[in-house]
Amino acid sequence: MKKSEITSRIEQLKKERDAVIIAHNYQIGEVQDVADFLGDSLQLSQEAAKLKENVIVFCGVHFMAETAAILSPEKTVLMPDLGAGCPMADMITASELREWKKQYPGRKVVCYVNTSAEVKAECDICCTSSNAVQVVEAVEGDEILFAPDKNLAAYVARFTKKKIVPWDGYCYVHNNIRLRHLKEKKEQLPEAEVWVHPECRPEVIDMADKVLSTGKMIKEARITTKTDILIGTESGIIYRMKQENPDKNFHAIKEMAHCSNMKKINLRKVLTSLEDMIYKVDVPQDISRRAKGAIEKMVML
Ligand code: 13P
Ligand code: SF4
Repeated sequence: MKKSEITSRIEQLKKERDAVIIAHNYQIGEVQDVADFLGDSLQLSQEAAKLKENVIVFCGVHFMAETAAILSPEKTVLMPDLGAGCPMADMITASELREWKKQYPGRKVVCYVNTSAEVKAECDICCTSSNAVQVVEAVEGDEILFAPDKNLAAYVARFTKKKIVPWDGYCYVHNNIRLRHLKEKKEQLPEAEVWVHPECRPEVIDMADKVLSTGKMIKEARITTKTDILIGTESGIIYRMKQENPDKNFHAIKEMAHCSNMKKINLRKVLTSLEDMIYKVDVPQDISRRAKGAIEKMVML
């Protein structure tokens, strides 16, 4: 089947199934092109909660689809590839979190949304890269446990007087964007502005002009007067930036900053997902109820 045929079949099935396609900013171009809504983790959670369609085809990684299923338990949430997980989310399990909490009695726990539903069910409140500082400030107590991203924890610690106790997790894609990559690109393009994601290493963040979630990068790309920007995040986002701003140049700080899980979904898999109504993302009721509390506290801030 040609790409245009797949796209029109997807459009037809969306109507028949009362479905909507939502996709993360890191998805490959052909998936971004068929999405009804594109965004960062926070925007996708907020959007999933207010959608009127009965079926959500979620193009992103597993924790994101789980979040949509938790916020809309009456809807069918499908993932075109169930194997698209997030290695950082796998760096902490619910039992590890329970043990960690025992070492810090009475401390509140902030979990990055990049965690499983079971882990969210054990925490006090969730955060995303765009609201982490605000969440930590809103939580009671002077010492806060923060899981699983140590780089995001270190970034938040720059803006609060609270003591942040980090879990030792990280995103391999962002952690592999090194200072030497940034220095090399900056030498080639000294006038370029540098935007990086808060999952990057502290020394990379130190050299950045702006530290932004993927959603905020998309907004900034529309309003910036700069013509050359060095981007320190998963390179899938550059497709959308270029589409929306053809007059500006977005350069990956590290060309091969690819999240292999985000790339598992493609147009054919989206079609199969809608055709066969697979793969359904289910979260057990008890876990869903407890995780929902932590997500809703964040969304309501
Ligand atoms: P955003 O919340 O900025 O979209 O980030 C999600 C993510 O997985 C970053 O690696
Ligand atoms: Fe997880 Fe990193 Fe991939 Fe985001 S880019 S989904 S944090 S592995």
